[in-house]
Amino acid sequence: SLQGVDLLAEIDRLKRERNAVILAHYYQKPEIQDLADFVGDSLELSRKAAETDADVIAFCGVRFMAETAKILSPQKTVILPDMDAGCSLEDSCPPDQFAAFRAQHPDHIALTYINSSMEVKALSDIIVTSSSAEKIIAQIPESQKIIFGPDKHLGGYLSRKFRRDMLLWPGVCIVHEAFSETELLKLKAEYPEAPVAAHPECPAHIVDHADYVGSTSGILDYAKTMPGDTLIVATEPHIIHQMQKAVPHKLFIGAPGADGNCNCNICPYMAMNTLEKLYVALRDLSPRIEVDEELRLKAKASLDRMLEMAS
Ligand code: 13P
Ligand code: SF4
Repeated sequence: SLQGVDLLAEIDRLKRERNAVILAHYYQKPEIQDLADFVGDSLELSRKAAETDADVIAFCGVRFMAETAKILSPQKTVILPDMDAGCSLEDSCPPDQFAAFRAQHPDHIALTYINSSMEVKALSDIIVTSSSAEKIIAQIPESQKIIFGPDKHLGGYLSRKFRRDMLLWPGVCIVHEAFSETELLKLKAEYPEAPVAAHPECPAHIVDHADYVGSTSGILDYAKTMPGDTLIVATEPHIIHQMQKAVPHKLFIGAPGADGNCNCNICPYMAMNTLEKLYVALRDLSPRIEVDEELRLKAKASLDRMLEMAS
């Protein structure tokens, strides 16, 4: 039993002993964000994982993020507090079906969201995150046909913004899919001065009401620089913790789901990570990400293209 263990002190001790770095996504619980060495969006976390000179990366995020860290830093031990921390977008895109889809469209390149398995990354040409996608698409010649997967909402948003037809894989994020347009409009009526910031994983009926659309780090920047002092936030509500730390005098309101509150928009996968599991993972160096070398090299090629094109 972990009763009586001072988790914060033990995590700190083990971190030094193992020469570990703790990376956390903005959707992690506040207590995990607060003890992490670095908190960021998917692109920033990939860059940190590629650069770090630590021996161990303790990744407080979901499995595809920890897997990306291992693909970019294979000599490091990468641990994930809960190996079941998956992602609905990854689940929506089984590699064999994605391979068949690609084979049906041999004249298309595959531009793939980082929220996907290593196998799907290995079948892709260029990976994108929500903060790098626009810069990357702008570098692809107009005549080049594109398959975009697995997030149909991010793909649809990019298609509309760039007026470019892309073949979209029909995946969704269950978290961003759960925002209610009716409830959002009620909230806007209650706070008529408050802008809305939305993540592009939201469906069009939410994004259409947004004053700012961008990645988690983009939304966080917007929270710091926006006009006024109240913001409606249409993304996973744990990011509000960073907003509140950065600008304590402002009011941040999570956009609601159909039940009128934002609890249904908590990512159940991100929420699997706890201080207890992080402590055990650092103690046992397990659960640990292991990858097949041939697949890793293929997935790395498409991730490297992202890192080059996004820089
Ligand atoms: P970003 O932090 O890159 O915007 O990604 C959001 C997300 O849903 C991660 O799963
Ligand atoms: Fe996947 Fe959505 Fe959770 Fe991000 S918030 S990990 S996209 S299910």
